[in-house]
Formats: sequence, C-alpha cells, structure tokens
Amino acid sequence: MTHYIGILSGKGGVAKTTTSVNLSAALNYLGRDVILVDANLSTPNVGLHLGAPIVPINLHHVLKGKNKIVEAMYLHPSGIKIIPGGLSIQDLQGIRPEKLKNILPELDGLADIVIIDGAAGLGKEALSLMEAVKELIIVTNPELPAVADALKTIKIAESLGKNIRGVVVSKTGSEGDIPFNNLQTILDKQILAVIPHDKAIRQSLLRKDPVVFTHPRSKSAIAYKKMAANLIGVEFNETVEGNFSKFLRNLKIKN
Ligand SMILES: Nc1ncnc2c1ncn2[C@@H]1O[C@H](COP(=O)(O)OP(=O)(O)O)[C@@H](O)[C@H]1O
Ligand SMILES: [Mg+2]
Repeated sequence: MTHYIGILSGKGGVAKTTTSVNLSAALNYLGRDVILVDANLSTPNVGLHLGAPIVPINLHHVLKGKNKIVEAMYLHPSGIKIIPGGLSIQDLQGIRPEKLKNILPELDGLADIVIIDGAAGLGKEALSLMEAVKELIIVTNPELPAVADALKTIKIAESLGKNIRGVVVSKTGSEGDIPFNNLQTILDKQILAVIPHDKAIRQSLLRKDPVVFTHPRSKSAIAYKKMAANLIGVEFNETVEGNFSKFLRNLKIKN
C-alpha cells in the first residue's frame, strides 16, 4: 500500500523542503521506495535542492491537464523518484492546484511512500495539499512566529479531519529557543525530530544532494535518519561522528 505524507508549516523558510528531501533520502536509504512530489507550486525548489535538470514534463503540466503524473516522474541519482514543479512564470498560468487530490492517487502502487513538499501559508496551494492527503507532518522552528503559524496550520488541518503525524522542529540550538516541552504543550503534538542548525545543510545545498548522503554522520543527517526509521518502525543506531573520528577518517586511517 502506498502511504502519502504531506509536509506543511505555516511560516515559510522553516525547512519544509530540506525535511522533505532528507526524509525521502533517509527512507530510501532504509530500503523504502520513495516518490517526492514538489507541490510548492509558486516557488518549487525540490529540483534546486537536488540539482535536478529542467525536465520536459513537470507537475505544472499535470495540473493543467496536459500530462499524466507518471509522465512527470524522474529517477534522481540518489534513488528517490521525484516529481518536480515547473520553474518558469508561464508554468503558473492556468494551473489548478485543487486537482492535486485527483492526480496523487495515480501514484498508488508505484512506491511505498510518497512525500509531498508543500507551500507556506494557508493559501490555495497549501490547502490543496491538505485536502489531497490524509496525513501531514508539520515543520517549525523554535521561535514564536513559526510556532504560532504552525498551530494555525494544525488547527485547520484537524478541522478538515486530517491526521497530524507530528512536528519536526528544525534549526534548533540558538539562544532563546522555545524549550521543547513548551513547544509540545503549545502544539499538543508529538515531536518527531529535532534538527539542529547545522552548517552541513548549507554545504549539502551547494552540493545539490541531501545532507543524509553528503554528510551522513552529521547531526542533522543522523536526526533525519532516526526520524525516518521511527516513522517506519525500524531500528536505527548510527551515531553522530565526533571530531577525532572525522579527523582519522579524513586521514583515511578509518572508514
Ligand atoms: N537544520 C538546518 N540548519 C541550517 N540551515 C537550514 C536547516 N534546515 C534548513 N536550512 C536552510 O534554511 C533555508 C530554508 O529551508 P527550506 O527547506 O528551503 O525551507 P522551506 O521549504 O520551509 O521554505 C534554506 O537555505 C536551508 O538550507
Ligand atoms: Mg520549500
């Protein structure tokens, strides 16, 4: 059975796409067949995170009724199948985001898990994704504006009968972070992962590959892999690599 999970936030820039890409990569690393759909229609950037070339058929063509969703699916070298969005302004003309709920089921049986990266805010794009899936993961940062917006998204999703699988708190570790127990109380949801602010993420973006592959033993990569393992109920016991160990590996004294 194919399982669909939408990734939404509320506030923009909190790490939805980073989470979508790395959760997909980590699930793939754990042996699951994954499709990653870029449903952030006005500013799609899954392809940018993954260095995917501009492709002839994308999700925008599908939402205009020109193509089938399977025709917009490409195998990325990382092993994830991606369905990118169109990057040009013309791509946006005439799309019908509300069609997402009709076209996603065509992916049934083509993967174990479909991760759908969503748009920020509570406009038509985000709501179309909310309507198209049963299950959502909400991404936030440990600061009040992000948490307030996440709460609004959670309330609306729940009023539509959606299941909030939990919350990812990203870019943590700065002075003034809202403490996790307060976050849990405010949002009243399980915290699925705490992803520290990690410079490896920026480096992975430059290398256009998920951090779980470019820096597999960084704090953020380990946190994403743990989250993926918990989601599918498998054990995971890799640990963050210490500086001394990294030093030895760089000298090629150890693997
Ligand atoms: N854990 C992290 N540590 C450092 N930077 C991060 C982290 N997660 C995301 N970022 C950076 O924050 C910015 C926004 O992330 P992105 O995933 O594009 O957010 P969204 O999709 O919610 O708009 C990007 O530049 C990304 O590289
Ligand atoms: Mg994004």
